[in-house]
Amino acid sequence: MTKVAVFGANGQLGQTLQNQAHNQIESYEFFNKEEADITNRDQIHKIFSNNSFKYCINCAAYTNVDGAEQNKDIAFKINSEGVNNLSEICKKHNVILIHISTDYVFEGKATLPYKTTDKPNPINQYGKSKLDGECHVQKQLEKYYIIRTSWLYSPYGKNFVKTILSKVKEDIDLKITTEEEGTPTSCIDLSNFIISIIEKGDVPYGIYNFSAKGSTNWYLFAVEVARNVFPNNVSKISPTSSYKTLANRPKYSVLNLEKTELIYQNLKDWKESLKTVIQEIKKDAVL
Ligand SMILES: NC(=O)c1ccc[n+]([C@@H]2O[C@H](COP(=O)([O-])OP(=O)(O)OC[C@H]3O[C@@H](n4cnc5c(N)ncnc54)[C@H](OP(=O)(O)O)[C@@H]3O)[C@@H](O)[C@H]2O)c1
Repeated sequence: MTKVAVFGANGQLGQTLQNQAHNQIESYEFFNKEEADITNRDQIHKIFSNNSFKYCINCAAYTNVDGAEQNKDIAFKINSEGVNNLSEICKKHNVILIHISTDYVFEGKATLPYKTTDKPNPINQYGKSKLDGECHVQKQLEKYYIIRTSWLYSPYGKNFVKTILSKVKEDIDLKITTEEEGTPTSCIDLSNFIISIIEKGDVPYGIYNFSAKGSTNWYLFAVEVARNVFPNNVSKISPTSSYKTLANRPKYSVLNLEKTELIYQNLKDWKESLKTVIQEIKKDAVL
């Protein structure tokens, strides 16, 4: 039986994968940060020595974009050194690594969606640390998938959709930036894509983009979130072009999906995917 190790199991993608991989014929084993700290070589080495995994999905990362500006060392330790460890150990044990990366490896000056062959040039520490991680994967391994994704949300953990819902519910006035264009991506859709790569078994190795179809800005994304649950409160959200954050963010980070569509025909429009996740959130929360 094909065995799959998943690291970063308690993050929003990790938790979504636990749900989506539930009924797969492959055997998925999930490890949280305490069970598998990717910066701890000995611990990871032991896990791979005691098991015969064919795939490793790395959902573990330092994901606080603003935090990375002040905690650069921690971001690089996890997103670069940790990924280097994992790549080295995957190579030693002949494990195929599926590593998750980000649209923030791009600087955001493009006017057309970024292809996997476009040159990255990150403009914040998080993006730099993630690009370093990608480079380690590519240097160490031949059998890898790097999946660049964008603006993740899910029913789990802390994310933009859940934050907007709770603020709108509390009747709080919100100012949201119109200054960045990108694509919200549901962790449910991303999990299904990752699972499909493993199920197919013959997808060519390399870098893939994954997001929903279409693009928007954070303000319009927030409006769509509110419209789905509190249509009468949408006016509480207003647009701004001067929202300051510690980290610079790419003004445009839409991902080109042509290569992905060659291997996966189930891409959804971002508004459709948002509806599905909101339905899941509603099951668990009193909205
Ligand atoms: N969120 C987004 O909008 C977004 C967009 C594009 C790409 N991505 C990428 O998508 C992937 C999944 O993101 P996500 O949103 O699911 O992130 P997340 O919710 O922050 O989950 C990351 C998980 O990794 C764990 N972790 C941190 N350091 C670790 C270590 N040294 N060893 C093992 N686990 C560790 C975290 O544990 P603690 O919380 O306990 O530290 C957390 O459970 C990441 O690679 C991220 O860079 C995310």
